[in-house]
Amino acid sequence: SIVSKRYRTAYHFQPLSNWINDPNGPMYYNGIYHQFYQYNPNGSIWGNIVWGHSVSTDLINWIRLEPAIERTTPSDINGCWTGSATILTGDQPVIIYTGADTEKRQVQNIVLPKNLSDPYLRQWKKLKNNPLIQPVGPGLNSGQFRDPTTGWIGPDGLWRIAVGAELNGYSAAILYKSKDFMKWTRVDHPLHSSNASTMWECPDFFAVLPGKNNGLDLSAAIPNGAKHVLKISLDYCDKYMIGVYDLKRDTFVPDTILDDRRLWSRIDYGNYYASKSFFDSKRGRRIIWGWTNETDSTSDDVAKGWAGIHAIPRTVWLDSDGKQLLQWPVEEVELLRTNAVSHQGIELKKGDLFEISGTDTLQADVEIDFELTAIDAADPFDPSWLLDTEKHCREADASVNGGLGPFGLVVLASDNMEEHTTVHLRVYKSEQKYMVLLCSDLRRSSLRPGLYTPAYGGFFEHDLDKEKKISLRTLIDRSAVESFGAGGRVCITGRVYPVALVDGGTHMYAFNNGSSTVKVSQLKAWSMRRAHVNVKMG
Ligand code: FRU
Repeated sequence: SIVSKRYRTAYHFQPLSNWINDPNGPMYYNGIYHQFYQYNPNGSIWGNIVWGHSVSTDLINWIRLEPAIERTTPSDINGCWTGSATILTGDQPVIIYTGADTEKRQVQNIVLPKNLSDPYLRQWKKLKNNPLIQPVGPGLNSGQFRDPTTGWIGPDGLWRIAVGAELNGYSAAILYKSKDFMKWTRVDHPLHSSNASTMWECPDFFAVLPGKNNGLDLSAAIPNGAKHVLKISLDYCDKYMIGVYDLKRDTFVPDTILDDRRLWSRIDYGNYYASKSFFDSKRGRRIIWGWTNETDSTSDDVAKGWAGIHAIPRTVWLDSDGKQLLQWPVEEVELLRTNAVSHQGIELKKGDLFEISGTDTLQADVEIDFELTAIDAADPFDPSWLLDTEKHCREADASVNGGLGPFGLVVLASDNMEEHTTVHLRVYKSEQKYMVLLCSDLRRSSLRPGLYTPAYGGFFEHDLDKEKKISLRTLIDRSAVESFGAGGRVCITGRVYPVALVDGGTHMYAFNNGSSTVKVSQLKAWSMRRAHVNVKMG
């Protein structure tokens, strides 16, 4: 139908039809990027899960292949769930994934490419020794034991993987060791655990260098000064801790332990889950992928015949202060840019709305540098807002005047503004520093009923005394709005379904509703071409 076509993204990853969830086993091997994904071959709601498989040379255009792992054995007959790829010594790719077995217990299985000389690695064979790992042993729950990480080698030369689990009712990334990647023994302590939450899904463990966006291969020697990151999925979002990997104790030790998990940092403060990263040896960077679900209704998804996209792959690295991750869309996405529009030195006074015209407003990439003129005007920051940033975004929305902000973008707006989505910034003065809020408010994104339309938000620290500019980048892709504040300190992805997108044109604006003037020192916008995403080429 026209509706399902209009809301289909033009350059975000999705299959031709049906349901997808988590990205699985991303890897670069022999000149090809592989993306696998949780996929229902029979419909657009979750179920019958197999591993869909697509390949690419640029992370943006994808060729669709046959599913790589299907439900064919007793150890995965009820589902081929999330897992990770590892390139073993000697350039041998392997995948370990979770199977839901005949009794719906969660077990870990291994597959290897059938034919290494097939450039696309289309076929994968299941080994006789499956399941490799059973949900047995102290504290484990056979229904909460899944999503193995990529393997890494410890100082003793043994391989390790971590598996997400509920351990004695709490959350843990359980550690396993192996000499040959086949026989695994459980280490007597987890890589990390916490009693501040329950089951951790999709753990991801990787190393990063402060201030450098070149990535690290977890199985290579980790340079001095590197930090480790443990990412986990819970509470409908992806959270992370930065810390060190204590090689003697073989545990991950976070730099700070926050007992209240609402305060944990997030990969993305919007609709983004089950992310997984990999080391891209072609370009020497670490790339992270996440799943962005639909926020229309299940019956909408059945009518559309498809559900779920993946966010644009992002390069991920550590800020020079060592405290937070930075993320930026892989530069390959810029190949889709066309019809560049650029403006300099626009003054946005209180109440100003500046229309960005000349680009496709449904498929766009917008980058703006806001320059603050009067930082003293910032309103005071209240730390209790951190406990519920969505509540704060609802109360202090784009129409609520502040000292410094809100200023930002209005996207996918109908002629009369009855429908619109805002992506905006607000600056607050905290004791020694400034706190900036990036908010993406979907509450007026659509007149259609039955949608989930929150006001997402995330805070970051910003040294305004040193840097008066704050940048905002937003990728608009029909039903996806993916934003990056201050060079990727806070990211927010949302899904929107405006009626105007089906019925007519939409508009895009830069705005300021703060008392003090902000200068747009630079504004660049591009239309984004449609990518070849799992459609037939040519
Ligand atoms: C996360 C998740 C994983 C599981 C998979 C099943 O979204 O629930 O924990 O392996 O999806 O599809």
